[in-house]
Amino acid sequence: MQPMSRYEIRVCTNRRLTGKKPSCYNNGGEAIWIALQQQIERFGLQHEVTARKSGCLDRCEEGPAICMVDRGAGSESPLWQGIRTLFSANKTCRVRVQPRDIAEILKELRPGNRNSGG
Ligand code: FES
Repeated sequence: MQPMSRYEIRVCTNRRLTGKKPSCYNNGGEAIWIALQQQIERFGLQHEVTARKSGCLDRCEEGPAICMVDRGAGSESPLWQGIRTLFSANKTCRVRVQPRDIAEILKELRPGNRNSGG
């Protein structure tokens, strides 16, 4: 079994067609999704970062929202990384994200900028 990428970034692209509550799709979630994919490729982080579209992350009023899960270093077993992902351990979320913010967010994950250990 191959190790998982260390980070998983979930981009809320939830769409509400009606209702009083805002949704990230209507606030630019798709643009965040596109920018994230472009910047992952630009920085060559395809093995370090997995990007996923997500349903509602429960930060609708502040969207677009993203959450990042640190699954731990690759030296950890894939089983343990999977458990961390499942329970969203080491999760941090950002709100009111703009496409121009993505590069900076990814830079914070790059070697030399991240905390060592799991
Ligand atoms: S719709 Fe994006 S956090 Fe709820």
